[in-house]
Amino acid sequence: MLSSITCTAPVNIATIKYWGKRDEKLILPLNSSLSGTLHQDDLKTTTTAVASENFTEDAIWLNGKKEDINTTRYQNVLRMIRSRATKLMDKKHFVHICSINNFPTAAGLASSASGYACLVYVLAQLYGVSGDISAIARIGSGSACRSVYGGFVKWEMGAESDGSDSIAVQVAPETHWPEMNIIVLVVNDKKKETSSTDGMQRSAATSPMMKERCATIVPQRMRDIEAAIQARDFQTFGDITMKDSDDFHEVCATTDPAIYYLNDTSRYIMNLVHKYNKMSGKIKCAYTFDAGPNACIYLPEENVVEALALFTKHFPGSDLSTYYRGSDKSNIEKIEHYQPPKNIQTLFAPEVTFADSLKYILHTKIGPGPQILDESESLIDKSTGLPK
Ligand code: DP6
Repeated sequence: MLSSITCTAPVNIATIKYWGKRDEKLILPLNSSLSGTLHQDDLKTTTTAVASENFTEDAIWLNGKKEDINTTRYQNVLRMIRSRATKLMDKKHFVHICSINNFPTAAGLASSASGYACLVYVLAQLYGVSGDISAIARIGSGSACRSVYGGFVKWEMGAESDGSDSIAVQVAPETHWPEMNIIVLVVNDKKKETSSTDGMQRSAATSPMMKERCATIVPQRMRDIEAAIQARDFQTFGDITMKDSDDFHEVCATTDPAIYYLNDTSRYIMNLVHKYNKMSGKIKCAYTFDAGPNACIYLPEENVVEALALFTKHFPGSDLSTYYRGSDKSNIEKIEHYQPPKNIQTLFAPEVTFADSLKYILHTKIGPGPQILDESESLIDKSTGLPK
């Protein structure tokens, strides 16, 4: 056994969406993007990488199941890591990698982002790679490059053809805006979606909206949302976040053939959020949807209980102790007893409710970037080199 490292990495949710590549091989985007990093107490990938001269091949296990490591993306990541290695250079060895998520992959949350970010982070430790590693995460999966930092992170599209300046940059650390919360409404949906990789390729080739989006709309939004984050201006942040989500789904709808990621529940949530904000006279929460029907709601701490009470009124769960998933369990009682102010009371008494539309409700915050864990947390058995 040469060495062993275990790390964790977070999920991120874009507020300015990455959609479309100018280089499929290097995963270079057509536009810059920006996301919030979610807290790893609630959502994370954990990965152990072990290098040994006794192994006969590189191998990877995801959530306990051995996967093919000979995919282009894994091989590109391994090659790039090894080309920048300052450790393990003189010995013949292979790596065993074992990775698990603390959330169901089927939940439709960006597991590829936390997965590749964690893989790259752990391999960078193992091989002594220093400097920017976001570009290595990027060649695994574009959005993964934003998961190598905490807080708010932008992925600058860059201009170089070799991708050297297409990297993630932290806009603000997780301590900058600690009031920012995220509620994920995990929507019940059985449909198999078009993958992001395929969808964005088709949009780039056919959607008439792409040109203006990339040339002017996104660059302006990037400047505005960065300023809003610096100023902790939730009104601007929320407005831009919802507009970019709407535009992204409009791009999908104008792709030929059209791609639809949202379902009736998603659209109901969008309407509900707009009504709630309108009746409140300000943006109290802001939705964003990725390549699937789940709603990610960004909102300040002061609106969390109210918004959770609102969502559970429209989408009731039989048992809040399992339906509501978040680190702060004291919210359960507060949600049950919440009394809304007069101006929004009617919104809390819906005529129809949708008991089976959500799987569950996740509540989390903006959190830190990847972490290195203690040896005792390893997912690989040292004596066998196999998953524990
Ligand atoms: C809608 O990063 O999954 O979530 O680079 O092909 O692996 P590949 O795509 P991926 O696309 C994510 C798209 C998105 C928007 C975003 O996260 O910015």
